[in-house]
Amino acid sequence: MTLLDVAAIGVTLYILWKLLQNRQPSSHYLPPGPKGLPFVGNLLAMPPTEEWVTFAEWGRKWGGILAVSILGKTMIIVNSARIMDELDKKGAIYSDRPVLEMGGKLVGYDQTLVLIEYGARFRTYRKHFLRYLGTPKAVEGLFPLIEHESRRFLQRTLAAPDNLMNHLRKLAGGVILKLTYGYEVQDGEDPFVNLIEGANANFNAATVPGAFPVDFFPVMKILPEWLPGMAFLKTAAEWAVDTAKMVEVPYSWTQKQIAAGTAVPSFVSTSLENDSALSVDELRDLKFTASSMYGAGADTTASSEYAFYLAMTLYPDVQKKAQAEIDSIVGDDRLPNLNDLPRLPYVQAVVTEILRWNSVAPTGVPHRPVEDGYIGGYFIPKGALIVVNLWGMLHDPATYSEPFEFRPERHISTSEREAELDPRKICFGYGRRICPGMFLAEASLFSCIAMSLAVFSVEKAVENGVPVTPVHENTSGIISYPKPFKCTIKPRSAKAAALIAEEII
Ligand code: HEM
Repeated sequence: MTLLDVAAIGVTLYILWKLLQNRQPSSHYLPPGPKGLPFVGNLLAMPPTEEWVTFAEWGRKWGGILAVSILGKTMIIVNSARIMDELDKKGAIYSDRPVLEMGGKLVGYDQTLVLIEYGARFRTYRKHFLRYLGTPKAVEGLFPLIEHESRRFLQRTLAAPDNLMNHLRKLAGGVILKLTYGYEVQDGEDPFVNLIEGANANFNAATVPGAFPVDFFPVMKILPEWLPGMAFLKTAAEWAVDTAKMVEVPYSWTQKQIAAGTAVPSFVSTSLENDSALSVDELRDLKFTASSMYGAGADTTASSEYAFYLAMTLYPDVQKKAQAEIDSIVGDDRLPNLNDLPRLPYVQAVVTEILRWNSVAPTGVPHRPVEDGYIGGYFIPKGALIVVNLWGMLHDPATYSEPFEFRPERHISTSEREAELDPRKICFGYGRRICPGMFLAEASLFSCIAMSLAVFSVEKAVENGVPVTPVHENTSGIISYPKPFKCTIKPRSAKAAALIAEEII
């Protein structure tokens, strides 16, 4: 055999191997799943709350990928990280979003990044995010801003510890308004926070499953307003005005600051200053990108930070261990900052465990394929709804032993760590829709958590002389919070209280 023959055989084998790899499964079978009824399909079996628990049960019965049918529409439910990885790799097909008639088209949220259809505008928004928040390096530039707001949070919490959730919302909202528009939130009622949270509350109400029949019968939106059952058009028009204000008002505020020469660097100010000749469409996309940050970033971060306080109430040993690490590395003469992060592995593990233990987006945000395809060997039709059960993956006992326990150690010990999936790879979604704020989220969490541990002691509240043990339960919806709980927050020492009270420059 000559060298040429060997090369020819090699090339043939390589081509055959490639062909086999690209071969589509011949079946047109959807993934398996529970049997449904005629017309309504599995609608009646859909759980009204905590759907992720039922989805995980179905996963144990039907496997990592399963299909159900809702009023003739295919819904694919994924319970396996391996399948999520395949969806991730085929991101060009599986990165569109479902169309929401009420919350999206009528109220106007379909122009924000979370819902915008996969296409040119989507790519423009993502490029903006990438430039400003999309890399660890970019977020490093925001460290002083995050630390500044975290310190304000400590002061507010020290002054009124019973108002924890409000302080956390203000912290997350404050970070985002500052980096997006250069706006510093006011203590007490803040007009921008009220405006944006009002619009987001409309959106949440607009997307409660089943609340608006137009989502199932889109033709309703062209029927006359005087017909019975059409009052939703008036509501939609009012809410659309609120959405427009949410987009326009903070943006105009920054424009005025630029004109007056008083603008502090922000996403909007740097974008406008870098390019003074933006077209009408480019300006529109810039405004909508900016307004996408608060909606997607504030509630999610606040939910995780609230869960941290719950975990510290329930797991005092974890709290003590994390505080001991901070005391020995940072000392008690100053607050920890984001540059301390590499030297605080246990606190880092607490952050990772918060992201696992408390699923902020338990079933992610649904994706929609733009063409027919195959996942896990099964046929996935164009337009199906794909829901990935992130909670299920993060609480799978086969991956994380005792998944309902809060155990940061699981992210430190090498043997366990190697065996387990990194929750940070799961909790932020997948494909071209992967959370573009993940580095900001992690930095914000670390800053809030490390500073809180350094100066506060979080304990069970005592009622009638009896310590109250809270239960870790979550609200339902796309974004999930720990249900309200009570705890006591006190400064760890007089020195800690003095550190909190130091003037913020
Ligand atoms: C603990 C904090 C956070 C968690 C757990 C989280 C998680 C997620 C998840 C699961 C998705 C859906 C991904 C998918 O469709 O596959 C998402 C999308 C998104 N997140 Fe986050 N997120 C967090 C914080 C943030 C922050 C701080 C920002 C920005 C300021 C942000 C901005 C967004 C945006 C704009 C989207 C929509 C992306 C798109 O549709 O292309 N998130 N996030």
